Amino acid sequence: KKIVYSGIQPSGTFTIGNYFGAMKNWVPMQEAYDCLYCVVDLHAITVPQVPADLRRRTYESLAILMAVGIDPDKSILYVQSHVPAHTELTWILNCFSYMGELSRMTQYKDKSKKQGNNIRVGLFDYPVLMAADILLYQSDLVPVGNDQKQHVELARDIASRFNQQFSPTFKLPEPYFGETGARIMSLQEPGRKMSKSDENINGFVSLLDDPDTVIRKFKRAVTDSDTEVRHDRENKPGVSNLMEIYNCTTGRSLEAIQREFEGKGYGDFKLAVGESVAETLRPIQEEYKRLLADKGYLESVMKQNAERAAKIAYKTLMKVRKKTGFINL
Ligand code: TYM
Repeated sequence: KKIVYSGIQPSGTFTIGNYFGAMKNWVPMQEAYDCLYCVVDLHAITVPQVPADLRRRTYESLAILMAVGIDPDKSILYVQSHVPAHTELTWILNCFSYMGELSRMTQYKDKSKKQGNNIRVGLFDYPVLMAADILLYQSDLVPVGNDQKQHVELARDIASRFNQQFSPTFKLPEPYFGETGARIMSLQEPGRKMSKSDENINGFVSLLDDPDTVIRKFKRAVTDSDTEVRHDRENKPGVSNLMEIYNCTTGRSLEAIQREFEGKGYGDFKLAVGESVAETLRPIQEEYKRLLADKGYLESVMKQNAERAAKIAYKTLMKVRKKTGFINL
C-alpha cells in the first residue's frame, strides 16, 4: 500500500482554501492508502505565536480534521511536536541542504518580506522541517494545495542527495493535487490565493463561518463587468474561482455549471455558490463542536496516534543515524 502524508498548521481558522485544496482530498485517500495527517505545531512557531492560542488551536485543528472525516483509527492523525524524530531528522537534513535552494522558496520570500530585518532562522528552515515530516514515513504521495508544490520538490531533492551520497534511504515523494481546488483564490482579489491571514475578512471563508456570513461573503465576491458564467481563469478570474468552488461542493463539471447559469445573472450564481458552501459546512461545524467539547478524548487520540507515528519514524531515523556516522546504542 502506498503511504500518504500531509500536514496543516494550527494557525488561525482554516479556510475553504485549506479544505478544498487539501483536507477534502485527504478523506477518500484513507480507503486506498496508509495515511498520516499531522497538525504541524513546530511549523506554526516559525512566526510569532501566543502560547495559549497555539495550544487551543492545536486542539481545534485536530477536531476539525476529524469533523471533515479523518478517522483516527484508520489514519494516523497526530501532532508534530509529539514525535521528537521530526526535529532530530530536521537537524541532520539541515546538514544536507543548501542556503541557495532554501533562498529560492517563494513562500519564504513572501513571508520574510513581512518580517523586516529580523528574519528568523526557523522561517528560513521551514521547508527542511517539512522535508523531514515527509521523509520520516517513506511517503509516496503528498496531497497539498499548489502553494506547497515547491516544498515537496525540495524534499525530493534533499532525499535524493542523501540517497546518492550514502545508499537508498528515503523514498522520493510526489505531490498530489485534486482536479480542482488546488488553488482557491481570494473572493475580493481573485489574483491572490485565499489566505486566513488576509486583512480583509471578506476575502476568505472560514470553515467556522455561520451560513449568513458565508452567503454574504459570496454575495460580495468580486466578479467582472460581464454577465456570463464561463470558466476562463485569465480573463474572468473571479467567476472562474467561484465556478471551481461550486464544482468542489456539488461535483458538477465546469461545463454543467456554465449551462446551469446560462442567461441568469451573477446574482443567482453567487447565491447558489454561497448556499452550497454553507450547506457543505453545516455538518462539519456540528461535528466539530461536538468533538471540541471533549478534550480528554482529543488528548487520547493525540497520545495513541503519536505512539503509532513514532514507531514508524524511529525506523527511518535509526537508518539515517547509522548512515550519517552516529553510534546507535
Ligand atoms: P498550510 O497550513 O499553510 O495549509 C494547509 C494546506 O492547505 C492548502 N491551501 C490551499 N489550497 C488551495 N487553495 C488555497 N487558497 C490554499 N491555502 C492553503 C496548502 O497547500 C496545504 O496543503 N507547510 C504546510 C504544512 C506541512 C506539510 C508537511 C504539508 C508541514 N509539513 C508535510 C505536507 C507534508 C503548510 O504550511 O500548509
